[in-house]
Amino acid sequence: MAQKLDPWKSSEISDYSKLFEEFGISPFSDVLDEIPCPHKYMRRGLIFGHRGYEKITDAMKRRQPFVVLDGFMPTGKAHFGHKMVMDQIVWYQQQGAVAVVGMADREAHAVRELTWEECKRIGVEEYIISLIALGLQPENARLYFQSECQPVKDLAFEIGTKVNFSDMAAIYGFSGETHLAHMISVLTQGADILHSQLSVYEGPVPVVVPVGADQDPHIRLTRDVASKMNMFLIERRADQKTGLPYWSVRGKGAPEGALKTIEQNIRGVFGGGVGGGGGGTGSGVGGAGVLTKLSKEHLDIFGDISENELEEIVKNAELAHGGYAFIMPASTYHRFMSGLTGGKMSSSIPDSNIALSEDPKSAVKKIMKAKTGGCESAEEQRKNGGDFDKCSVYELYFFHLADDDEELLQIRVDCSSGNILCGECKKKAAGKMEAFLIDHQKKREEAYDKLPLFGIDYRRK
Ligand code: TRP
Ligand code: SF4
Repeated sequence: MAQKLDPWKSSEISDYSKLFEEFGISPFSDVLDEIPCPHKYMRRGLIFGHRGYEKITDAMKRRQPFVVLDGFMPTGKAHFGHKMVMDQIVWYQQQGAVAVVGMADREAHAVRELTWEECKRIGVEEYIISLIALGLQPENARLYFQSECQPVKDLAFEIGTKVNFSDMAAIYGFSGETHLAHMISVLTQGADILHSQLSVYEGPVPVVVPVGADQDPHIRLTRDVASKMNMFLIERRADQKTGLPYWSVRGKGAPEGALKTIEQNIRGVFGGGVGGGGGGTGSGVGGAGVLTKLSKEHLDIFGDISENELEEIVKNAELAHGGYAFIMPASTYHRFMSGLTGGKMSSSIPDSNIALSEDPKSAVKKIMKAKTGGCESAEEQRKNGGDFDKCSVYELYFFHLADDDEELLQIRVDCSSGNILCGECKKKAAGKMEAFLIDHQKKREEAYDKLPLFGIDYRRK
Protein backbone atom coordinates (compact mmCIF):
# COMPACT_ATOMS: atom_id res chain seq x y z
CA MET A 1 0.00 0.00 0.00
CA ALA A 2 1.30 3.41 -0.85
CA GLN A 3 2.07 5.32 2.31
CA LYS A 4 0.88 8.81 2.90
CA LEU A 5 2.87 11.38 4.77
CA ASP A 6 0.63 13.23 7.19
CA PRO A 7 2.13 16.16 9.07
CA TRP A 8 -0.54 16.08 11.78
CA LYS A 9 -0.70 12.40 12.63
CA SER A 10 2.37 10.79 14.07
CA SER A 11 2.29 7.99 11.55
CA GLU A 12 5.15 5.54 11.73
CA ILE A 13 7.26 5.25 8.63
CA SER A 14 8.09 1.59 8.21
CA ASP A 15 10.38 1.82 5.23
CA TYR A 16 12.31 4.99 4.58
CA SER A 17 13.75 3.74 1.30
CA LYS A 18 10.24 3.75 -0.19
CA LEU A 19 10.15 7.53 0.13
CA PHE A 20 12.74 7.82 -2.62
CA GLU A 21 10.58 6.20 -5.25
CA GLU A 22 7.16 7.27 -4.03
CA PHE A 23 7.90 10.93 -3.40
CA GLY A 24 11.06 11.63 -5.35
CA ILE A 25 13.20 12.36 -2.30
CA SER A 26 16.89 11.89 -3.16
CA PRO A 27 19.21 9.77 -1.00
CA PHE A 28 21.38 11.92 1.25
CA SER A 29 24.34 9.64 0.53
CA ASP A 30 24.48 11.30 -2.91
CA VAL A 31 25.60 14.60 -1.42
CA LEU A 32 27.36 13.44 1.77
CA ASP A 33 30.85 13.50 0.25
CA GLU A 34 30.39 17.11 -0.79
CA ILE A 35 29.95 18.32 2.80
CA PRO A 36 33.17 19.66 4.30
CA CYS A 37 32.67 18.21 7.80
CA PRO A 38 29.33 16.45 8.06
CA HIS A 39 27.27 16.36 11.26
CA LYS A 40 27.07 13.04 13.06
CA TYR A 41 23.41 12.70 12.01
CA MET A 42 24.65 12.84 8.42
CA ARG A 43 27.58 10.45 8.91
CA ARG A 44 25.32 7.94 10.63
CA GLY A 45 22.60 8.00 8.01
CA LEU A 46 20.00 9.48 10.37
CA ILE A 47 19.54 12.16 7.78
CA PHE A 48 18.62 9.89 4.92
CA GLY A 49 17.13 12.10 2.22
CA HIS A 50 17.07 15.52 0.63
CA ARG A 51 15.61 17.72 -2.04
CA GLY A 52 17.85 20.14 -3.90
CA TYR A 53 20.69 19.99 -1.37
CA GLU A 54 23.34 20.65 -4.06
CA LYS A 55 22.70 24.38 -3.65
CA ILE A 56 23.66 24.08 0.01
CA THR A 57 26.86 22.07 -0.45
CA ASP A 58 27.78 24.59 -3.11
CA ALA A 59 27.24 27.54 -0.78
CA MET A 60 29.12 25.85 2.05
CA LYS A 61 32.10 25.02 -0.16
CA ARG A 62 32.29 28.48 -1.67
CA ARG A 63 31.58 30.14 1.68
CA GLN A 64 28.66 31.97 0.16
CA PRO A 65 25.70 33.12 2.24
CA PHE A 66 22.92 30.65 2.94
CA VAL A 67 20.09 30.21 5.40
CA VAL A 68 18.97 27.36 7.63
CA LEU A 69 15.28 27.73 8.23
CA ASP A 70 12.98 25.80 10.53
CA GLY A 71 9.78 25.99 12.45
CA PHE A 72 8.46 24.48 15.66
CA MET A 73 4.83 24.05 16.54
CA PRO A 74 4.66 25.22 20.17
CA THR A 75 2.22 22.71 21.60
CA GLY A 76 4.02 20.91 24.40
CA LYS A 77 7.36 19.93 25.85
CA ALA A 78 10.39 20.02 23.57
CA HIS A 79 11.89 16.52 23.61
CA PHE A 80 14.78 14.65 22.05
CA GLY A 81 13.05 14.50 18.67
CA HIS A 82 13.08 18.30 18.64
CA LYS A 83 16.68 18.30 19.83
CA MET A 84 17.60 16.60 16.55
CA VAL A 85 16.28 19.57 14.63
CA MET A 86 17.81 22.10 17.02
CA ASP A 87 21.23 20.44 16.80
CA GLN A 88 21.11 20.77 13.04
CA ILE A 89 20.12 24.44 13.18
CA VAL A 90 23.04 25.18 15.50
CA TRP A 91 25.40 23.17 13.29
CA TYR A 92 24.39 25.06 10.13
CA GLN A 93 24.87 28.35 11.93
CA GLN A 94 28.39 27.19 12.83
CA GLN A 95 28.94 26.37 9.14
CA GLY A 96 28.17 29.98 8.26
CA ALA A 97 24.40 29.95 7.75
CA VAL A 98 22.00 32.58 9.01
CA ALA A 99 19.54 30.71 11.26
CA VAL A 100 15.90 31.69 10.81
CA VAL A 101 13.49 29.94 13.16
CA GLY A 102 9.76 30.48 13.37
CA MET A 103 7.40 29.51 16.13
CA ALA A 104 4.37 28.07 14.33
CA ASP A 105 1.79 29.51 16.68
CA ARG A 106 -0.72 29.88 13.84
CA GLU A 107 -0.50 26.14 13.27
CA ALA A 108 -0.69 25.35 17.00
CA HIS A 109 -3.71 27.64 17.39
CA ALA A 110 -5.50 26.34 14.31
CA VAL A 111 -4.75 22.64 14.55
CA ARG A 112 -4.22 22.03 18.27
CA GLU A 113 -6.44 24.83 19.57
CA LEU A 114 -3.92 26.34 21.95
CA THR A 115 -4.50 29.93 23.02
CA TRP A 116 -2.07 32.57 21.74
CA GLU A 117 -0.78 33.04 25.29
CA GLU A 118 -0.03 29.35 25.64
CA CYS A 119 1.71 29.36 22.28
CA LYS A 120 3.89 32.24 23.37
CA ARG A 121 4.87 30.70 26.67
CA ILE A 122 5.58 27.28 25.19
CA GLY A 123 7.36 28.77 22.18
CA VAL A 124 9.77 30.72 24.36
CA GLU A 125 10.14 28.52 27.43
CA GLU A 126 10.30 25.15 25.69
CA TYR A 127 11.68 25.73 22.22
CA ILE A 128 13.59 29.00 22.02
CA ILE A 129 15.21 28.55 25.43
CA SER A 130 16.44 25.04 24.58
CA LEU A 131 17.64 26.16 21.16
CA ILE A 132 19.74 28.87 22.79
CA ALA A 133 20.95 26.42 25.46
CA LEU A 134 22.06 24.07 22.68
CA GLY A 135 24.32 26.77 21.32
CA LEU A 136 22.42 29.08 18.97
CA GLN A 137 24.24 32.41 18.80
CA PRO A 138 22.46 35.77 18.54
CA GLU A 139 24.61 36.89 15.61
CA ASN A 140 23.23 35.51 12.36
CA ALA A 141 20.01 34.38 13.97
CA ARG A 142 16.44 35.56 13.58
CA LEU A 143 13.67 34.12 15.72
CA TYR A 144 10.03 35.04 15.28
CA PHE A 145 6.44 34.03 15.95
CA GLN A 146 4.24 33.54 12.88
CA SER A 147 1.42 35.61 14.38
CA GLU A 148 3.76 38.56 14.95
CA CYS A 149 5.53 38.58 11.60
CA GLN A 150 3.67 40.73 9.08
CA PRO A 151 5.80 39.85 6.03
CA VAL A 152 5.18 36.16 6.71
CA LYS A 153 1.44 36.72 6.98
CA ASP A 154 1.37 38.82 3.81
CA LEU A 155 3.37 36.24 1.91
CA ALA A 156 1.03 33.49 3.15
CA PHE A 157 -1.87 35.36 1.58
CA GLU A 158 0.04 35.79 -1.65
CA ILE A 159 0.84 32.07 -1.70
CA GLY A 160 -2.89 31.54 -1.43
CA THR A 161 -3.23 32.94 -4.95
CA LYS A 162 -1.29 29.92 -6.24
CA VAL A 163 -2.96 27.12 -4.28
CA ASN A 164 -6.53 25.98 -4.70
CA PHE A 165 -8.72 23.65 -2.69
CA SER A 166 -8.07 20.68 -4.98
CA ASP A 167 -4.33 20.99 -4.33
CA MET A 168 -4.99 21.05 -0.60
CA ALA A 169 -7.30 18.05 -0.80
CA ALA A 170 -4.84 16.06 -2.90
CA ILE A 171 -1.82 16.79 -0.74
CA TYR A 172 -3.30 16.74 2.76
CA GLY A 173 -6.59 14.92 2.37
CA PHE A 174 -8.47 18.07 3.43
CA SER A 175 -12.22 17.89 3.11
CA GLY A 176 -15.24 20.08 3.58
CA GLU A 177 -14.83 19.65 7.33
CA THR A 178 -11.35 21.13 7.46
CA HIS A 179 -11.17 24.52 9.15
CA LEU A 180 -10.00 27.37 6.99
CA ALA A 181 -7.48 28.37 9.66
CA HIS A 182 -5.87 24.95 9.26
CA MET A 183 -5.45 25.65 5.56
CA ILE A 184 -4.11 29.11 6.28
CA SER A 185 -1.56 27.55 8.61
CA VAL A 186 -0.32 25.48 5.65
CA LEU A 187 0.07 28.63 3.56
CA THR A 188 1.84 30.19 6.51
CA GLN A 189 4.34 27.36 6.64
CA GLY A 190 5.02 27.98 2.95
CA ALA A 191 5.58 31.61 3.84
CA ASP A 192 7.93 30.61 6.67
CA ILE A 193 10.01 28.68 4.20
CA LEU A 194 10.09 31.39 1.51
CA HIS A 195 10.06 34.66 3.45
CA SER A 196 13.78 34.73 4.25
CA GLN A 197 14.31 35.28 0.53
CA LEU A 198 12.35 38.54 0.56
CA SER A 199 14.56 41.56 0.11
CA VAL A 200 13.53 42.92 3.54
CA TYR A 201 15.26 39.88 5.05
CA GLU A 202 18.15 37.76 3.78
CA GLY A 203 17.16 38.06 0.10
CA PRO A 204 17.32 35.28 -2.49
CA VAL A 205 20.08 33.09 -1.07
CA PRO A 206 19.90 29.28 -0.79
CA VAL A 207 17.78 27.97 2.09
CA VAL A 208 17.85 24.54 3.70
CA VAL A 209 14.96 23.24 5.78
CA PRO A 210 15.91 20.26 7.97
CA VAL A 211 12.75 18.33 8.91
CA GLY A 212 11.32 14.92 9.65
CA ALA A 213 9.91 13.08 6.66
CA ASP A 214 6.33 13.85 7.75
CA GLN A 215 6.90 17.49 6.74
CA ASP A 216 7.68 16.64 3.13
CA PRO A 217 4.18 17.50 1.85
CA HIS A 218 4.80 21.10 2.97
CA ILE A 219 8.15 21.14 1.22
CA ARG A 220 6.69 19.82 -2.04
CA LEU A 221 3.88 22.35 -1.96
CA THR A 222 6.26 25.21 -1.20
CA ARG A 223 8.71 24.29 -3.94
CA ASP A 224 5.82 24.09 -6.36
CA VAL A 225 4.48 27.47 -5.27
CA ALA A 226 7.94 29.06 -5.43
CA SER A 227 8.33 28.15 -9.09
CA LYS A 228 4.81 29.41 -9.83
CA MET A 229 5.56 32.74 -8.17
CA ASN A 230 8.78 33.27 -10.03
CA MET A 231 8.74 35.26 -13.27
CA PHE A 232 11.10 33.02 -15.14
CA LEU A 233 11.62 29.34 -15.71
CA ILE A 234 15.06 28.14 -16.68
CA GLU A 235 15.13 24.91 -18.66
CA ARG A 236 17.83 22.82 -20.23
CA ARG A 237 16.79 21.78 -23.72
CA ALA A 238 18.26 20.11 -26.76
CA ASP A 239 18.24 21.72 -30.18
CA GLN A 240 15.86 19.81 -32.44
CA LYS A 241 18.16 19.80 -35.43
CA THR A 242 21.63 19.48 -33.96
CA GLY A 243 20.81 17.85 -30.63
CA LEU A 244 23.08 20.40 -28.95
CA PRO A 245 22.01 21.44 -25.45
CA TYR A 246 21.02 25.02 -24.71
CA TRP A 247 19.31 27.02 -22.00
CA SER A 248 15.84 28.35 -22.39
CA VAL A 249 14.53 31.08 -20.12
CA ARG A 250 10.78 31.35 -20.25
CA GLY A 251 9.00 34.43 -19.01
CA LYS A 252 5.72 33.39 -17.44
CA GLY A 253 3.82 36.61 -17.73
CA ALA A 254 6.96 38.58 -16.95
CA PRO A 255 6.65 42.30 -17.64
CA GLU A 256 7.67 43.49 -21.04
CA GLY A 257 11.34 44.07 -21.44
CA ALA A 258 12.31 41.68 -18.64
CA LEU A 259 13.64 39.03 -21.02
CA LYS A 260 15.45 41.78 -22.89
CA THR A 261 17.15 42.78 -19.63
CA ILE A 262 18.38 39.22 -19.21
CA GLU A 263 19.73 39.17 -22.75
CA GLN A 264 21.52 42.46 -22.22
CA ASN A 265 23.00 41.29 -18.97
CA ILE A 266 24.27 38.09 -20.56
CA ARG A 267 25.98 40.16 -23.21
CA GLY A 268 27.30 42.44 -20.52
CA VAL A 269 28.91 39.54 -18.71
CA PHE A 270 30.08 37.58 -21.72
CA GLY A 271 31.59 40.46 -23.67
CA GLY A 272 29.94 42.97 -25.96
CA GLY A 273 28.98 40.65 -28.78
CA VAL A 274 26.87 41.50 -31.76
CA GLY A 275 23.45 42.86 -31.03
CA GLY A 276 20.44 41.02 -32.35
CA GLY A 277 17.31 42.43 -33.93
CA GLY A 278 16.46 45.73 -32.35
CA GLY A 279 12.76 45.02 -32.42
CA GLY A 280 12.92 42.84 -29.35
CA THR A 281 13.59 39.58 -31.12
CA GLY A 282 16.71 38.41 -32.84
CA SER A 283 20.05 37.04 -31.80
CA GLY A 284 23.41 38.13 -30.56
CA VAL A 285 26.81 36.63 -30.06
CA GLY A 286 28.65 37.14 -26.79
CA GLY A 287 32.43 37.51 -26.73
CA ALA A 288 32.98 34.15 -24.99
CA GLY A 289 30.97 32.25 -27.56
CA VAL A 290 27.57 32.71 -25.99
CA LEU A 291 24.74 33.17 -28.42
CA THR A 292 21.30 34.42 -27.50
CA LYS A 293 18.02 34.25 -29.33
CA LEU A 294 15.12 36.28 -28.05
CA SER A 295 11.49 35.74 -28.90
CA LYS A 296 8.36 37.07 -27.29
CA GLU A 297 7.96 34.44 -24.57
CA HIS A 298 11.45 33.05 -24.20
CA LEU A 299 15.14 33.60 -24.49
CA ASP A 300 17.37 30.80 -25.74
CA ILE A 301 21.02 30.77 -24.80
CA PHE A 302 23.60 28.65 -26.60
CA GLY A 303 27.20 28.18 -25.62
CA ASP A 304 29.44 28.29 -22.64
CA ILE A 305 27.41 29.57 -19.72
CA SER A 306 26.93 27.61 -16.48
CA GLU A 307 23.64 27.13 -14.71
CA ASN A 308 24.89 29.17 -11.75
CA GLU A 309 25.95 32.07 -13.96
CA LEU A 310 22.64 32.06 -15.76
CA GLU A 311 20.63 31.80 -12.55
CA GLU A 312 22.46 34.79 -11.12
CA ILE A 313 21.69 36.90 -14.18
CA VAL A 314 18.04 35.85 -14.28
CA LYS A 315 17.68 36.50 -10.55
CA ASN A 316 19.00 40.05 -10.87
CA ALA A 317 16.72 40.80 -13.81
CA GLU A 318 13.73 39.42 -11.94
CA LEU A 319 14.49 41.50 -8.87
CA ALA A 320 14.95 44.60 -11.05
CA HIS A 321 11.48 43.99 -12.48
CA GLY A 322 9.86 43.57 -9.07
CA GLY A 323 9.72 39.77 -8.92
CA TYR A 324 10.57 37.38 -6.09
CA ALA A 325 13.34 35.37 -7.77
CA PHE A 326 12.92 32.58 -5.23
CA ILE A 327 15.64 29.96 -5.22
CA MET A 328 14.06 26.52 -4.77
CA PRO A 329 14.27 25.81 -1.04
CA ALA A 330 16.28 22.68 -0.22
CA SER A 331 15.29 20.21 2.48
CA THR A 332 16.71 17.29 4.38
CA TYR A 333 14.80 14.47 6.05
CA HIS A 334 15.75 12.67 9.21
CA ARG A 335 14.51 9.46 10.73
CA PHE A 336 12.42 9.50 13.85
CA MET A 337 13.64 7.97 17.04
CA SER A 338 11.42 5.24 18.36
CA GLY A 339 9.94 5.53 21.82
CA LEU A 340 11.64 4.19 24.94
CA THR A 341 8.66 1.91 25.48
CA GLY A 342 9.03 0.41 22.01
CA GLY A 343 6.78 1.56 19.18
CA LYS A 344 6.57 5.22 18.39
CA MET A 345 7.65 8.16 20.47
CA SER A 346 4.60 10.12 21.43
CA SER A 347 3.91 12.90 23.87
CA SER A 348 0.70 11.10 24.81
CA ILE A 349 2.81 8.22 26.19
CA PRO A 350 4.98 9.98 28.81
CA ASP A 351 7.34 7.02 29.34
CA SER A 352 8.09 6.87 25.62
CA ASN A 353 10.04 10.11 25.56
CA ILE A 354 12.17 12.43 27.64
CA ALA A 355 11.66 16.18 27.61
CA LEU A 356 14.62 18.54 27.50
CA SER A 357 13.26 20.21 30.64
CA GLU A 358 12.55 16.95 32.44
CA ASP A 359 13.75 16.17 35.94
CA PRO A 360 16.98 14.18 35.37
CA LYS A 361 15.95 11.59 37.97
CA SER A 362 12.73 10.87 36.11
CA ALA A 363 14.70 10.51 32.86
CA VAL A 364 16.98 7.97 34.53
CA LYS A 365 13.93 5.96 35.62
CA LYS A 366 12.51 5.94 32.10
CA ILE A 367 15.77 4.65 30.67
CA MET A 368 16.04 1.92 33.30
CA LYS A 369 12.54 0.75 32.26
CA ALA A 370 13.15 1.10 28.53
CA LYS A 371 12.65 -1.63 26.00
CA THR A 372 15.95 -3.19 24.94
CA GLY A 373 17.10 -5.84 22.53
CA GLY A 374 18.34 -8.05 25.35
CA CYS A 375 17.59 -11.70 26.00
CA GLU A 376 15.30 -13.32 28.56
CA SER A 377 18.12 -14.39 30.83
CA ALA A 378 21.56 -13.03 31.60
CA GLU A 379 23.04 -16.39 30.76
CA GLU A 380 21.46 -16.43 27.34
CA GLN A 381 22.61 -12.89 26.63
CA ARG A 382 26.19 -13.65 27.62
CA LYS A 383 26.08 -16.51 25.16
CA ASN A 384 24.15 -14.99 22.23
CA GLY A 385 24.59 -11.27 22.73
CA GLY A 386 21.93 -8.56 22.52
CA ASP A 387 20.22 -7.15 19.47
CA PHE A 388 21.11 -3.46 19.43
CA ASP A 389 19.10 -2.95 16.26
CA LYS A 390 15.92 -3.53 18.24
CA CYS A 391 16.99 -1.57 21.28
CA SER A 392 15.66 1.86 22.23
CA VAL A 393 18.62 2.43 24.56
CA TYR A 394 21.04 1.85 21.70
CA GLU A 395 19.02 4.36 19.71
CA LEU A 396 19.59 6.90 22.45
CA TYR A 397 23.32 6.38 22.13
CA PHE A 398 23.08 6.44 18.35
CA PHE A 399 21.10 9.68 18.15
CA HIS A 400 22.23 11.58 21.22
CA LEU A 401 24.46 10.04 23.84
CA ALA A 402 27.53 8.88 21.90
CA ASP A 403 29.07 11.67 19.85
CA ASP A 404 32.17 9.70 19.15
CA ASP A 405 31.84 7.05 16.41
CA GLU A 406 34.45 4.82 18.10
CA GLU A 407 32.48 4.82 21.31
CA LEU A 408 29.31 3.88 19.44
CA LEU A 409 31.09 1.05 17.69
CA GLN A 410 32.35 -0.25 21.04
CA ILE A 411 28.76 -0.35 22.36
CA ARG A 412 27.69 -2.38 19.34
CA VAL A 413 30.56 -4.81 19.76
CA ASP A 414 29.99 -5.16 23.50
CA CYS A 415 26.27 -5.67 23.00
CA SER A 416 26.36 -8.21 20.21
CA SER A 417 29.18 -10.19 21.81
CA GLY A 418 27.35 -10.43 25.12
CA ASN A 419 30.22 -8.61 26.79
CA ILE A 420 27.84 -6.18 28.41
CA LEU A 421 24.34 -6.88 29.75
CA CYS A 422 21.38 -4.56 29.44
CA GLY A 423 21.33 -3.54 33.10
CA GLU A 424 24.84 -2.17 32.96
CA CYS A 425 24.36 -0.70 29.50
CA LYS A 426 21.19 1.12 30.56
CA LYS A 427 22.91 2.42 33.67
CA LYS A 428 25.65 3.90 31.53
CA ALA A 429 23.13 5.51 29.19
CA ALA A 430 21.12 6.82 32.14
CA GLY A 431 24.25 8.34 33.64
CA LYS A 432 25.05 10.11 30.39
CA MET A 433 21.49 11.31 30.07
CA GLU A 434 21.48 12.64 33.61
CA ALA A 435 24.72 14.53 33.03
CA PHE A 436 23.41 15.94 29.76
CA LEU A 437 20.14 17.12 31.29
CA ILE A 438 21.82 18.72 34.30
CA ASP A 439 24.15 20.65 32.00
CA HIS A 440 21.42 21.52 29.49
CA GLN A 441 19.08 22.75 32.18
CA LYS A 442 21.79 24.94 33.67
CA LYS A 443 22.28 26.44 30.22
CA ARG A 444 18.52 26.81 29.86
CA GLU A 445 18.49 28.97 33.00
CA GLU A 446 21.25 31.14 31.56
CA ALA A 447 19.42 31.38 28.25
CA TYR A 448 16.64 33.52 29.74
CA ASP A 449 19.10 36.37 30.16
CA LYS A 450 20.08 36.09 26.51
CA LEU A 451 16.54 36.47 25.14
CA PRO A 452 16.89 40.23 24.55
CA LEU A 453 19.98 39.56 22.42
CA PHE A 454 17.64 37.60 20.13
CA GLY A 455 15.18 40.47 20.11
CA ILE A 456 12.69 38.61 22.27
CA ASP A 457 10.81 40.55 24.86
CA TYR A 458 9.46 38.04 27.36
CA ARG A 459 8.74 37.99 31.05
CA ARG A 460 8.99 34.57 32.60
CA LYS A 461 5.70 33.14 33.86
N1 TRP B 1 4.75 22.10 10.81
C1 TRP B 1 5.99 22.01 11.54
C2 TRP B 1 5.80 21.01 12.68
O1 TRP B 1 4.73 20.55 12.93
C3 TRP B 1 6.43 23.33 12.08
C4 TRP B 1 6.81 24.34 11.05
C5 TRP B 1 6.16 25.51 10.81
C6 TRP B 1 7.91 24.31 10.15
N2 TRP B 1 6.79 26.23 9.86
C7 TRP B 1 7.86 25.52 9.42
C8 TRP B 1 8.93 23.39 9.90
C9 TRP B 1 8.81 25.83 8.44
C10 TRP B 1 9.88 23.70 8.93
C11 TRP B 1 9.81 24.91 8.21
O2 TRP B 1 6.76 20.68 13.35
FE1 SF4 C 1 20.51 -2.49 24.17
FE2 SF4 C 1 22.70 -2.26 25.59
FE3 SF4 C 1 21.03 -4.31 25.97
FE4 SF4 C 1 22.50 -4.17 23.77
S1 SF4 C 1 23.24 -4.41 25.87
S2 SF4 C 1 20.35 -4.68 23.89
S3 SF4 C 1 22.53 -1.97 23.41
S4 SF4 C 1 20.62 -2.14 26.36
